[in-house]
Amino acid sequence: ANVQAYANEEMKPLNIAHRGASGYAPEHTMVSYQLGDDMGADYIEIDLQLTKDGHLIAFHDETLDRTTTGSGKVSNHTLKEIKELDAGSWFNKAYPAYAKEEYKNEKVPTLDEILSHFGSNKKYYIETKGFDINNKMEKKLLASLEKHGLLEKDKLRDKHIIIQSFNKFSLLSIKKMNSDIPLVRLLAQNASGWRADLELNIIKRYAMGVGLKYKHVDASYIAKARALGLEIHPYTVNETEDMERLLDWGVTGIFSNYPDRLQKAINEH
Ligand code: G3P
Ligand code: CA
Repeated sequence: ANVQAYANEEMKPLNIAHRGASGYAPEHTMVSYQLGDDMGADYIEIDLQLTKDGHLIAFHDETLDRTTTGSGKVSNHTLKEIKELDAGSWFNKAYPAYAKEEYKNEKVPTLDEILSHFGSNKKYYIETKGFDINNKMEKKLLASLEKHGLLEKDKLRDKHIIIQSFNKFSLLSIKKMNSDIPLVRLLAQNASGWRADLELNIIKRYAMGVGLKYKHVDASYIAKARALGLEIHPYTVNETEDMERLLDWGVTGIFSNYPDRLQKAINEH
C-alpha cells in the first residue's frame, strides 16, 4: 500500500457506484443510490430506458421481468404502469444475506426524480441505452440536465455529469448538441495490438475516456489509454484484489457494486 500515491484529490481514481450500491440494495432505486453516496462514491451510475410515454427512467434491462414485479418491455409500458411495480422484492429473494424489509415495494425512479432528490452538487455518470436515430433519449437527457442546472459552466468543468454509452452515435449526437459534456465510450470487447491503438485514437476524437470490462484490460492497455490522455474506467469490479490490481495498473476510475470496498481500496492504495 502506498498512502502517498495521490498527490491531490483530482488524481484520486473515481469511485463510481454501479447502479448505486447495488451489491447491498436493489439496483437503480433511491435507496441504492443513497447508500452509494453514503459509502463515499464520487458518482452515482444511472442506466437509462424510455417508457412508452417518453419518460426517462433509471433502469438497466430492456424488460421489466428481472428487477420488478412486472413483465415485458419497458418501452411497452407507461410511467404510471411502471410506478405501480415493486422494484425491490426481487433483491431480497436473490440476495437474502442483504435483504431488508424496507426494500420491499421500492419504486423505479425517473431521472428527474433522482436529479431533484440528490441535487446539482452531486455527480452523475449516466448511460444512454437503446439507441434510436431520432436521438429521443439524448434530447430528453440534455433537457433534463439543463432543467436541473447540470449544464452550467462550472458543473461541466467539474464533471458533475459524465455521459457514457456503448453506442458511438449516441455519444456523437450528444457532442453535437453540447460539445462540453464529458463523454465516455463503453466497449463490450476491446481490440489488442495495433487495433487497440487505432480504436483508442478514434475514441480520443470525441470522448474523454473509455469504459471496459475489467477482465479485458491489462497494464499495457491501461498505459496505452493513459498515454493518449484518456481516462480509463473498468466495470464492474467487486473484489478487493481486482480493485487493488487495477489501481496498481493506473486506472483513473472504477465501477463497483460495493462502493465501500472500493473506497477502502482507493484510500489504502
Ligand atoms: O456502464 C458501465 C457498465 O455498467 C456497462 O454495463 O450492462 O452494467 O450497463 P451494464
Ligand atoms: Ca451501465
